Amino acid sequence: MIKQYIQSNQQRFLDELFDLLRIPSVSADSRNKADVRKAAEFIVQKLKDAGADAVELCETKGHPIVYGQKTISNSAPTVLVYGHYDVQPPDPLNLWTSPPFEPVIKDGKIFARGSCDDKGQVYMHIKAFEAMMKLNQLSCNIKFMIEGEEEVGSDNLGIFVKENKERLKADVILISDTSLISLDHPSITVGLRGLSYMEVEVTGPNRDLHSGVYGGAVANPINVLSQMIASLHDENGKVTIPGFYDKVVELSEADRKKLNEAPFDLIEYKKDLAIDEVLGEKGFTTIERTGIRPTLDANGIWGGYTGEGAKTVLPSKASVKISMRLVPNQDSHEITQLFTKHFLTIAPKSVKVKVTAHHGGEPAVTPTNSKAYKAASDAFVAVWGKAPIPTRDGGSIPIVSLFKKELGLDTVLMGFGLDSDAIHSPNEHYGVKNFLIGIETIVSFYQHFSKK
Ligand code: BES
Ligand code: MN
Ligand code: MN
Repeated sequence: MIKQYIQSNQQRFLDELFDLLRIPSVSADSRNKADVRKAAEFIVQKLKDAGADAVELCETKGHPIVYGQKTISNSAPTVLVYGHYDVQPPDPLNLWTSPPFEPVIKDGKIFARGSCDDKGQVYMHIKAFEAMMKLNQLSCNIKFMIEGEEEVGSDNLGIFVKENKERLKADVILISDTSLISLDHPSITVGLRGLSYMEVEVTGPNRDLHSGVYGGAVANPINVLSQMIASLHDENGKVTIPGFYDKVVELSEADRKKLNEAPFDLIEYKKDLAIDEVLGEKGFTTIERTGIRPTLDANGIWGGYTGEGAKTVLPSKASVKISMRLVPNQDSHEITQLFTKHFLTIAPKSVKVKVTAHHGGEPAVTPTNSKAYKAASDAFVAVWGKAPIPTRDGGSIPIVSLFKKELGLDTVLMGFGLDSDAIHSPNEHYGVKNFLIGIETIVSFYQHFSKK
């Protein structure tokens, strides 16, 4: 019956999702403020159309949060669905094969910024809800909280959660904002990494100088900064910041073995990225390097002359943005401090160093023995004919640890994206198949959860 409903409404579902994808709700760019709001209003309308009550566009200091709910009975369990309607900037634009906010289907995949992260996945939940309402099959109370600042750190959502504990009372949080191993190997994410994001500015002389007149005699901020960045890893790929690994929970040999049993094709992985070899912390597999180990990466670096031709200049300044991915039980504030202290310590006296912290978030591990996890697992068995494999993802959803801390709630991370969907990259896409089977699996989750 559900399958039938999805099939006969498939075109409309996709048309509506396309309308949402056409709204450039880039939360990081103030020029898109009105668009971000438009996307929130779109979600409001679709929740209302699907039959939600108390739908509200909740103002924050930043972009609005959309809330809506449907209560069927006080004795039924309550599921709080979280997702985000904001998207990453589409840059670099010239690398897109079709414009980022003009969705198209190619090879069975929807190409658009946000198609997978996270509009496409949020929309599965709205359509799953619509289907259950239309077919009179809703067996759980539902609350929706869809925000517009996930990609910029969810600061205002944190405040909203603290101020709305009563309204957000639930039995579990359900999120689709992660990836599957593959369509052949369904999986449920049980771990997310935390994040500490830093920016460093190195200043040498008070102005750009002629690199012939002064070169060799005055510290070059680019040279100095490059050396400092390079020194953050040792020859074994370990991060050299003192204390960085102190709180890292090491997995038992048995748990590591289990983690590595997940299907992973290194040859395919390298082929997809067009690289000859992988690189990372010595003694750990690729699955471990992205799942259970903390890392440090430069995300952007600039300084000096980057225009056409050659300009002989010794720059006054150089900068870098650095992200550190964290694992239990590292604390993002502590890591931010360790980084700052270390970076100031290793700087030569010939330059001035300014270290600033951007947003961060804590890592999270979700239980596999909860009723909700079992319901999600049963849903995969019912719809996919296979039990899902628990995996640890490398990305971050900082609000998950906050849900636990503030609301005491565990999360089920039932994502339907694929690592190859190019989220945050040019040509982000999302399989139509993933979208449709996601809706079906979500409906099945509610059926199983209400019976637990
Ligand atoms: N949906 C992603 C996180 C994600 C992606 C988790 C793939 C697991 C697998 C989310 O939208 C995201 O991009 N988060 C940011 C963190 C945020 C604080 C900017 C990230 O991971 O960089
Ligand atoms: Mn996301
Ligand atoms: Mn994202």
